[in-house]
Amino acid sequence: MAQTKKLLRSLAGETLPTPPVWMMRQAGRYLPEYRATRARAGDFLSLCYNSDLAAEVTLQPIRRYGFDAAILFADILLLPQALGADVWFVTGEGPRLSTITGAEGLTRLKGKDDIHDHLAPIYDTLRILTRELPSHTTLIGFAGAPWTVATYMIAGRGTPDQGPAHALKTADRTIFEALIDLLTEASIEYLSMQVMAGAEVIKLFDSWAGSLNGEDFAKYALAPAKRIISELKARHPGLPVIAFPRQAGEAYIGFAKETGADGLAIDAAVDPHWAARHLQPDGCVQGNLDPKHMVTGGPALVEETRAIVAALKTGPHIFNLGHGITPDADPDNVHRMLEAIRG
Ligand code: CP3
Repeated sequence: MAQTKKLLRSLAGETLPTPPVWMMRQAGRYLPEYRATRARAGDFLSLCYNSDLAAEVTLQPIRRYGFDAAILFADILLLPQALGADVWFVTGEGPRLSTITGAEGLTRLKGKDDIHDHLAPIYDTLRILTRELPSHTTLIGFAGAPWTVATYMIAGRGTPDQGPAHALKTADRTIFEALIDLLTEASIEYLSMQVMAGAEVIKLFDSWAGSLNGEDFAKYALAPAKRIISELKARHPGLPVIAFPRQAGEAYIGFAKETGADGLAIDAAVDPHWAARHLQPDGCVQGNLDPKHMVTGGPALVEETRAIVAALKTGPHIFNLGHGITPDADPDNVHRMLEAIRG
């Protein structure tokens, strides 16, 4: 049967008259209905592990805006938690985790196959969504890429420059690489279960890829993505994957081809004309409106949206933001963006 879901057509390499669209963090605090459901759940992590409510918040932006894709409501830090790390969120500040500073922190973690009991509610969320989503909406599953997840596990929190992770990489490369390997293999098991539970596309978020340079980028961003993507595709032939090595700059070039990704998500710093020339020949490009426009709105929002659509219209494109929509965004600006894309 010919593929009718727009997002899957773009990922298969088709150039469509209007690009499919979704937004990173589309289920989030800028929506009053999200805030209400989160309050019912109690806190953010309880919401992630409550399959009915997690499915509900996944659906909220689909109902409100009719996006072409729904992304599973969960977090990249659920996998470290399943591996045995302590994870909690401090309201207004962000995530906190137990830290990994050496060999003993690593040996305390579980094995790659011991994560599924803990993550069972996430698979249930996907099963609910396969029943509830409109037939033209694509369901996206995801994980953090090993480097990005490792930066949180090593530092115990988000860091502006990923300093602690770079320090461990220098001080004890064996332990650092063992952590990257464990996360790579555990991500394969986690994502493979997501596909079996109904995820039609997988996205790998490497939010901190931009702080890896040269050889480190090749070893800790590119190689793990390649291993995860090739193993997932071996297990699930035809599975489309979107890679997001955020702030990779020049290193975006060739990333899709070398890792086997079907789509490459780009951040807002990338010139879309440059992306059309250097990235689109290798496959679908996803991006890349600056999320600040969702706060400020006005003519600049419409002009920027149209400029991105125009720059990427001669190749496969999924419209998205360059990073997640922020809590201070105006929900009406999302309608204005959609109007500018779809007319
Ligand atoms: O709508 C979606 O995009 C799907 C759900 C999703 C969340 N986090 C929900 C969330 C996804 C795909 C993520 C990915 C994620 N989580 C990343 C990679 C993408 C990126 O933003 O770079 C990272 C680095 C995390 C870790 C994380 N989770 C941080 C640093 C924070 C705190 C910062 C913040 O925005 O508050 C979170 C919390 C988080 N994850 C929220 C949501 C909706 C906000 C929590 C709340 O409701 O209070």
